[in-house]
Amino acid sequence: MRFPAFLVNCKAYPQAVGKNAVRFAKRAERVAKRTGVKIILCVQAADIAHVADNTSLPVFAQHVDVEPGAHTGNIEIESVIASGAKGTLLNHAERQLPFAKLKETIRVCKKMKLPVVLCAATPSAAKKLATLKPSAIAVEPPALIGTGVSVSKAKPSVITNSVSLPLPVLCGAGISYRKDVEIALSLGAQGILVASAVVLGSQEKMLEKLAQGFAK
Ligand code: G3P
Repeated sequence: MRFPAFLVNCKAYPQAVGKNAVRFAKRAERVAKRTGVKIILCVQAADIAHVADNTSLPVFAQHVDVEPGAHTGNIEIESVIASGAKGTLLNHAERQLPFAKLKETIRVCKKMKLPVVLCAATPSAAKKLATLKPSAIAVEPPALIGTGVSVSKAKPSVITNSVSLPLPVLCGAGISYRKDVEIALSLGAQGILVASAVVLGSQEKMLEKLAQGFAK
């Protein structure tokens, strides 16, 4: 993974699922080309292949499982890799896993060379999860997710208390303005995770506005 990174979590928002996922990816690709910002798209598992086939941007899964066998509905790591995923989120606040399961999943992801951005709700959780040595940690206070109130402005200490970890730390939750991005990066974050502000808004315009927050 290259940093600083701008991860967009499409979640299950209809505006970035199915055919809309490809449409969104094209918009993000134009912004990445114009600004030079490293945008990564985290899409629905079933959208990975056709989004990866239609964009030059790295496409990530939103979650992976490592339990081959009789498990209906799993999102197996081999499947997302075969579909063209270049990495995955894991332990997002909306898809948390027990520590032991995270340890095993990250072990297999490393073996299969799939970068993991491991999500944490607090700086203390981030410290514990960093011991699993993912590619990066993404600290996101759940109470701010989807609120439009950014971690940068409402809880900057979540960022400052996490960035001293010995690996890249991203942040997310409520990021909606260029200033939110500028503050996050100035506090030491090596990237951001954003969902509602760009997926539910005027997509290309919002992507551009937040991407400008990366300007040196
Ligand atoms: O993974 C990032 C996401 O949880 C942040 O959500 O809508 O507050 O940007 P949002």
